[in-house]
Amino acid sequence: MDRSLVLIKPDAIQRALAGQIISRLERKGLKIIAMKILHMDKDLAQRHYAIHKGKPFFDDLVSFITSSPLIAVVLQGENAVQIIRQMMGETDPAKASSGTIRGDFGIDIGRNLVHGSDSPENARTEIDLFFSAEEIFDYDRELDTWIY
Ligand code: RTP
Ligand code: MG
Repeated sequence: MDRSLVLIKPDAIQRALAGQIISRLERKGLKIIAMKILHMDKDLAQRHYAIHKGKPFFDDLVSFITSSPLIAVVLQGENAVQIIRQMMGETDPAKASSGTIRGDFGIDIGRNLVHGSDSPENARTEIDLFFSAEEIFDYDRELDTWIY
């Protein structure tokens, strides 16, 4: 089973879309195994987006992601990483298909509502940045026999 780190970004919280976005992921059949609201500090933001350090948009990205609280969620399911990336849509909401989170709710590349890990390997690193082992719950759900 894959795990993915999803961030409901500050713009989604400010626009009161957090519930709708989490609901879409939950309705798909993905299992919520950890969740918290937090205000990212600059250090955590720079570590989370370390791969983009030096790019022209890096400072704006760090400033945006630290501007207001966000919700971090760990979701589990078969192919969860790939499925969530598909449900998010392209990075630029203007190019994202209708029916995706970014395609339905966003306009600007710097305000794209949601983050999802881009590989199972990066998911493990990202989950460790946000959650301790005690904050992650690997429980059984009766309904999973109807999803798989
Ligand atoms: P994320 O990491 O936030 O899930 O987004 P992503 O994988 O779809 O896109 P990524 O390439 O990792 O970029 C991280 C965030 O940086 C902003 N960005 N701005 N102005 C630009 O050209 C540009 N490119 C990327 C976006 O807000 C993106 O979510
Ligand atoms: Mg990314």
